[in-house]
Amino acid sequence: MPRSHSILLLALAATTLHAQARVASPDGRNRVTVEVREGKLYYSMARDGHALVLPSLLGFELKGAPPLRDALRITDTTRRSHDEWWTQPWGEVARVRDHHNELAVSVQETAAPGRRFTVRVRAFDDGIGFRYEFPQQPGLGAFEITDELTEFALADNARAWWIPSNWPRKDRSEELYSSGPVSTLDSVQTPLTMETRDGRTFLVIHEANLVDYARMFLRGPRMEGRTLHAALAPMADGIKVRGKTPFETPWRTIQLADRATELAPSLLGLKLNPPNVLARTDWIHPMKYVGIWWGMHIGTMTWSSGPKHGATTANTKRYIDFAAANGFGGVLVEGWNTGWDGDWIANRDAFSFTRSYPDYDLPGVAAYARQKGVRLIVHNETSGGIENYERQLDSAFALYKSLGLDAIKSGYVTDLTSGGDSHYSQVMVRHYRKVIEAAARDGIMLDVHEPMHDTGERRTYPNMMSREGARGQEYNAWSGDGGNPPEHETILFFTRLLAGPMDFTPGIFDILERSSGHAHRPEEPRVRTTLAKQLALYVVLYSPLQMAADLPENYERQPAFQFIKDVAVDWDTTRVLDARIGDYVVVARRERGGQTWFVGAITDEEGRTLSVPLSFLTPGRKYVAEVYADGPGANWLDNPLPVAITRRPVTAASVLRLVLAPGGGQAIRIRPEE
Ligand code: NOJ
Repeated sequence: MPRSHSILLLALAATTLHAQARVASPDGRNRVTVEVREGKLYYSMARDGHALVLPSLLGFELKGAPPLRDALRITDTTRRSHDEWWTQPWGEVARVRDHHNELAVSVQETAAPGRRFTVRVRAFDDGIGFRYEFPQQPGLGAFEITDELTEFALADNARAWWIPSNWPRKDRSEELYSSGPVSTLDSVQTPLTMETRDGRTFLVIHEANLVDYARMFLRGPRMEGRTLHAALAPMADGIKVRGKTPFETPWRTIQLADRATELAPSLLGLKLNPPNVLARTDWIHPMKYVGIWWGMHIGTMTWSSGPKHGATTANTKRYIDFAAANGFGGVLVEGWNTGWDGDWIANRDAFSFTRSYPDYDLPGVAAYARQKGVRLIVHNETSGGIENYERQLDSAFALYKSLGLDAIKSGYVTDLTSGGDSHYSQVMVRHYRKVIEAAARDGIMLDVHEPMHDTGERRTYPNMMSREGARGQEYNAWSGDGGNPPEHETILFFTRLLAGPMDFTPGIFDILERSSGHAHRPEEPRVRTTLAKQLALYVVLYSPLQMAADLPENYERQPAFQFIKDVAVDWDTTRVLDARIGDYVVVARRERGGQTWFVGAITDEEGRTLSVPLSFLTPGRKYVAEVYADGPGANWLDNPLPVAITRRPVTAASVLRLVLAPGGGQAIRIRPEE
């Protein structure tokens, strides 16, 4: 990976007994204080001199040992500054700058056993991160964490956009967002996005570089103040983390911005992950794909064998032909392997990852895809049977490699592992990491559904491309509550998508889902957007693997399909032009290595008209804007299909007037004039 110019100023390693130490971001605006008060360790954070996080406890409860929390004194503080640019092999931006000031505060118990640990803080202009580090020491070897005591004592009763956690049952992040003051939160997932009541600051609590730990949730104050507590997903025996020194926790991060539009692209997590470890990345390709998928969700095909089996050789070849004819990079085939018959969620150990159903000729379709210049995306649903999957990992990946298959969509439909561990426990963190590493070794790109939440792994392993981890399009096919409401994606952009790319699977044109056999009535599950908004989602919801999710026949004779064929999936730069969380978003992105821009605008159930200056274009240059707008009278509820496609010349001085229908959107391709 090309790694640029790096300045490492190792400075001032001072030994001090001060009970307080501070670090500020390079622009001086964000300041973190770490201090000991009456033997307990706290951090706090201010921006422009205004307190955002009040003194918040740091520490741990351990099994069979006293808590690592009391009678602490600061034994050492060290500081350094770091400034480095690098190029992401793919992403929502090409170049990333990691510019921060760091403070490491080491503490020790004054009483026996005199255990030591360090809190390392990094202050960036766009937020902060801190983690715990336990050096190897006589008083602390192997340990079991029963609770991480990290607090986030918010100074303001900020408005939060949240989904519940409440493990062990509801464990898949597939929830609709609510919003309300921090003081009313109970148990929520990260990224947790908040806006202070004066509207001056946006904060996002999340984590980075989760490698061998449990996923962090936040336990709310339940109306008692505004302090959120770290809460770790448990293993079956209630232990949260097993480790031995030397040991580092993931980073706890708080992203900061003055405006909602400045929250994305969110790069803090990438900066807090180690650089790319892959010697070569030229085999990693962002791409658009189609797949044998939506048919199963609307009930016209099955994953299991039988008359409606979707993954047949003939059907797959039809999809490959369609992909090749329309310039798609990949074809996903679900239900190709044995194990789907009966209750596939309960029978998770029955899945084979090498044996296909008799009506699916894996080597044959692999060869056919290769000949057509299309990648076959192999599906590995595990239902959370991770032992079964891990047992087959090497032989399955070897088979795929021998057939030239280099992309997998995996799945983990389960609440608990067979061992009874939470879906987000340390056991699962280790599993997901093991798969990423094995895939990297064998040259396989990953798209993980029901994933571990994204903590920036793609920087270290760029083969970890996309994942789900929120309510995606599939809920519009079968969800008991009718599907995702029109505001859903305007919140996803500012919550789930701040963690990293999402495989939302946009592009359903058959909004009323007639292909299922009948047009869905309003109370039935269906897509709750206009068709133009489905197009805009390709620009708004970033994913390096972007699906055209509908059945191929639903794209036939549809002029709007041209936008899906044209839209890029890899970007040099990304700008959020206008937005209000939960209301609307307008995003512009320039394709990687090119001069063509794409703009996507989406709104909630309210129609709105937005003015968008195109000042991001190169001044003096002439462009053509191809506009896919909601057509006359369009609205998500009873007239979702009209799309008005127009072309007009534009320059950097143009201001576009975007008219978005209720539940609508607009997608625009702006290419330099030939
Ligand atoms: C849930 C995934 O999100 C979906 O995309 C997939 O089709 C099913 N599991 C079956 O694996």
